[in-house]
Amino acid sequence: MTRIGIIVGSIADASINRQVANVLPGLVADDDVEFTFLEFKDLPFYDYAHDADYPPVAREWKQAIEDVDGVIIVTPEYSRSIPGVLKNALDWAARPWGQGSFGGKPVAIMGASIGAAGTAAAQQHLRAILGHYDAPTMGQPETFFQYRADNFGADGTLQDEAAAAVLGGFVNAAVAHVKKHALVAVA
Ligand SMILES: Cc1cc2nc3c(=O)[nH]c(=O)nc-3n(C[C@H](O)[C@H](O)[C@H](O)COP(=O)(O)O)c2cc1C
Repeated sequence: MTRIGIIVGSIADASINRQVANVLPGLVADDDVEFTFLEFKDLPFYDYAHDADYPPVAREWKQAIEDVDGVIIVTPEYSRSIPGVLKNALDWAARPWGQGSFGGKPVAIMGASIGAAGTAAAQQHLRAILGHYDAPTMGQPETFFQYRADNFGADGTLQDEAAAAVLGGFVNAAVAHVKKHALVAVA
């Protein structure tokens, strides 16, 4: 069983990226994959004074990342970068020095916005961060998903074939990427 963690870069209750992330597991053809959402909204701001003794919530965050074979990050773009809350969560994961949680961990990234080119700048910044962590990051397909509310039903299900093809293409490639690069033996 391959374990994949999904991180949503937004903490907004009405997050469109959360809505998109929620449909990804249902688009996977491979039934040997288990998805878990990795949540960071309860993390305080990172400060290196914590390095000597991480608070439990930060230990749990790092452990949750370390317990999966790979990660999918679905992030919005805020001010032409990733949201501050996601950067804060990544900083917690990166430390203490020498104990980063992302080293060698395969990651696939995508993002949703209302605009056609939205999240392209954020995804480039995220690639730079993940490169610094030595996390093998999927190159293709780049997925800058244009969100339309009418593509989703009231129950959150995806109702649009073209959108399903784009998101299915991304998530199935992400699964293959994780399986190819997973450090942990797949049981
Ligand atoms: C502070 C802020 C900055 C934003 N900056 C961008 C941006 O640079 N590029 C973009 O495509 N959308 C930008 N947006 C619009 C977001 O794409 C939109 O709010 C989207 O719903 C955010 O995703 P979320 O609902 O998953 O949080 C911004 C929104 C906020 C609140």
